[in-house]
Amino acid sequence: MKARLSRKVAVITGAGSSSDGIGTGQAISIALAREGCKVLLVDIDSERVANTLSIIEAEGGSAQVFTGDITQEIVAKEMINYAVSCFGTLDILVNNLGVMFYGDVLTASEHDWEESYRLNVRSMIYCSKYAIPVLEQQKQGSIINLSSSLALRAASQSLPLPYSVAKGAVISLTTTMAVQHGKDSIRVNAILPGLLRTPMATKGLSQDELETRRKSVPLQTQGDAWDVAMAAVFLASDESKWITGVVLPVDGGMLVTTPLSMLDSLGLTPDSSS
Ligand SMILES: NC(=O)c1ccc[n+]([C@@H]2O[C@H](COP(=O)([O-])OP(=O)(O)OC[C@H]3O[C@@H](n4cnc5c(N)ncnc54)[C@H](O)[C@@H]3O)[C@@H](O)[C@H]2O)c1
Repeated sequence: MKARLSRKVAVITGAGSSSDGIGTGQAISIALAREGCKVLLVDIDSERVANTLSIIEAEGGSAQVFTGDITQEIVAKEMINYAVSCFGTLDILVNNLGVMFYGDVLTASEHDWEESYRLNVRSMIYCSKYAIPVLEQQKQGSIINLSSSLALRAASQSLPLPYSVAKGAVISLTTTMAVQHGKDSIRVNAILPGLLRTPMATKGLSQDELETRRKSVPLQTQGDAWDVAMAAVFLASDESKWITGVVLPVDGGMLVTTPLSMLDSLGLTPDSSS
C-alpha cells in the first residue's frame, strides 16, 4: 500500500517531549515519518529532539533536526530556510509548540501573560510567516495548529487562564488564515486535544485523578498523543484536500458533554433535594 505522505516534506515545532513518555509533537513527527513524509524536527532542546530523531531513524524514516528558539522571528526564518535546503521544498507546517501557564486574572503575572503569548501564539505567527511564501510557490500546503479544548471549555477549577486565552487566539489565527490563504490552496486547520494522557498534561496527577478524567468523557477511555498524531496525518494528507478552517476536537467527546450528562459514568447521582 502506498504511504499517505510520500514525497511530502513537513516541519514540526516542539518535536521533542518535555518528560519521559511520548508528547504530541513527538508522536506527530513519528506518525508523519511512518507515512513516508520527510520531517524537520524543531526544538529548543537538542537532547529531547535527539530522542525523536533516533526513533524515526530506527524505523527507516527520513528526518533532520533544527535546534533553536522559534519564538524569535529570525530563528523561525532560518528554520524554514533550513527545511528547504535539506529537502528542496515544504508542504506541511505543524505548529505544535505550546506551553502551559497557570493562574486566573488575579494571580497570573505580567510575565505569565507575555510568555504564554510568546510561546503559544507568536511562535505560530512567525513560523507561518516564513512557511507561507514557500507553500504559495507550490500552490498547495497544509498548516496544522495545535490549540486545546481548554480554549473552549473549563476543565477544572485550577484553570491555566493565560494558556486557555492563548489557545483561543490559535483558533482565531487558524480560521482567519484559512480564509486569507485559501486562494493559494494553503489549508489551515487546528486540532483541539482534550484531556490527554501525555507527560505535559498528567504531570503530578494521582491515579484517582486520571481515572476521573477517563470517566468524564463519553468514550470512557483516555486519549494519548497518538490520537492527536492520527488526526494530524489526515489533515496533512491530500485525503483532507477540501478541508480548511476546521477546528477538530480530539477529546473522546468531551466538548459535547455537560456536567449533568456525565453524572452516571462518574458514579454521582443528582441531588434529589433540589
Ligand atoms: N499534551 C496534552 O495533553 C495537550 C492537550 C491539549 C493541547 N496540547 C497541545 O499540544 C502541543 C504540544 O504538546 P506536547 O505534548 O508536544 O508538549 P511537550 O511539552 O511534551 O513538548 C513541547 C516541546 O517544545 C519544546 N520547546 C519549548 N519551547 C520551545 C521554543 N521556544 N522553541 C522550540 N521548541 C520549544 C520543548 O523543549 C518540548 O520538547 C502544545 O501546543 C499543547 O498546548 C497538548
